[in-house]
Amino acid sequence: MESKVFSIGILVSGRGSNMEAVIRKVEEGYIKNAKVVVVISSRRDAPALEKARAHGVEALFIDPKDFWKEPDYERREKLREEYDRKIIAELEKRNVDLVLLAGYMLKLSPHFIRKYKGKIMNIHPSLLPAFPGLNAQKQALEYGVKYAGCTVHFVEEEVDHGPIILQAVVPVYDDDTVETLSERILEKEHEIYPEAVKLYVEGKLEVSGRKVRIKA
Ligand code: GAR
Repeated sequence: MESKVFSIGILVSGRGSNMEAVIRKVEEGYIKNAKVVVVISSRRDAPALEKARAHGVEALFIDPKDFWKEPDYERREKLREEYDRKIIAELEKRNVDLVLLAGYMLKLSPHFIRKYKGKIMNIHPSLLPAFPGLNAQKQALEYGVKYAGCTVHFVEEEVDHGPIILQAVVPVYDDDTVETLSERILEKEHEIYPEAVKLYVEGKLEVSGRKVRIKA
């Protein structure tokens, strides 16, 4: 019997190195029975778009038209949902089973999160629950932690909050700058994101409340 091929959609806003790490592991056959079918960027000039195309992956820019600048909360959230519905339409056209956020800098609407419940992953450059939000590596340095790292988690409505799938730890050195620490963390990001995707595709992740058990 042929096994199911998982269709993966990746949302990006920038460089796309995590996106590329996942695409490579699929190409190399390390992640089997999966295909990255679309990359969607919230920024027209995101280098991730060209990187995806260089791997033969369809890459789209969907213009958010700066909806986050809308000062009225309710109107802003309505615009957020309208934007997300456009993304969902593209994901649905391609029967996407798993959505990866890879440096995607917009908060998803509750509508999106409910629609793909348990099927959205994110990577964050800190050991959550420490240092959620922006500039996590800078936050870690300023706090004076001795160890930093990264986290792959399922996405819930609260930002950087959902059940943790994998984490990796790196040391923080006295002479670290945001750049050197970010680079050390990024290397680990490129290991654990593809690993988490592989476990998901293999059906090895069992979520119960906040806990994700990795089946043997
Ligand atoms: C990565 O370090 C990722 O963990 C971070 O943005 C960077 C994107 O780099 N994400 C967040 O901070 C999300 N809260 P990339 O575009 O090269 O993958």
